[in-house]
Amino acid sequence: MAVERTLSIVKPDGVGRNLIGDVYRRFEQAGLKVVAARMMQLSQAEAESFYGVHRERGFFKDLVKFMISGPVMVQVLEGEGAIAKNRDVMGATDPKKADKGTIRADLATSIDENIVHGSDAADTAAREIAFFFRETEICPRKR
Ligand code: CMP
Repeated sequence: MAVERTLSIVKPDGVGRNLIGDVYRRFEQAGLKVVAARMMQLSQAEAESFYGVHRERGFFKDLVKFMISGPVMVQVLEGEGAIAKNRDVMGATDPKKADKGTIRADLATSIDENIVHGSDAADTAAREIAFFFRETEICPRKR
C-alpha cells in the first residue's frame, strides 16, 4: 500500500476536554505519524472556506460556529493508506453509528461535537493539507 498524507483536526471539543493526547495516542498506535502540527484559532472566514463544500447544508452555520468556538489542533498524518486508516481510527461521523474503540464512539458526544475531522479522499487530503501547511512545514520522518 502507498504511503499517504492526510489532514486531521482535533476540534474545539477535543482540545477543550483535554483529549489531544488521547487522540494522538490512537493515531500513533495505528501506525500514523504526525509530520506537521499547529494549534490555532480559526477565524469565521477560514472555517467557512475550509468547510465550503458544506455551504448549502442545513448544519453549515452551526458547524462554523462550533469550529471557531475555541482553538483547534491541526495535523498532517503520514503512513501506509493513511487516509482510510485515519477514517477507521476516527469512526463514523455520527458517534452513535461509530464502531466501539474508535475516537468518535469512545469520546464524542454528538454528530456536531465529534472530536475530529479527517480528509475523506486523496484529492481532499491534498487540498486540506495545502489549506493549513506549506510544504516546508511538513517534516519528512526517517523512522
Ligand atoms: P467533519 O468530518 O468535520 O465534516 C463536516 C462536519 O459537519 C462533520 O464532521 C460533522 O461534525 C458536522 N455535521 C453536522 N451534521 C452533519 C450531517 N448531517 N452530516 C454530515 N456532517 C454533519
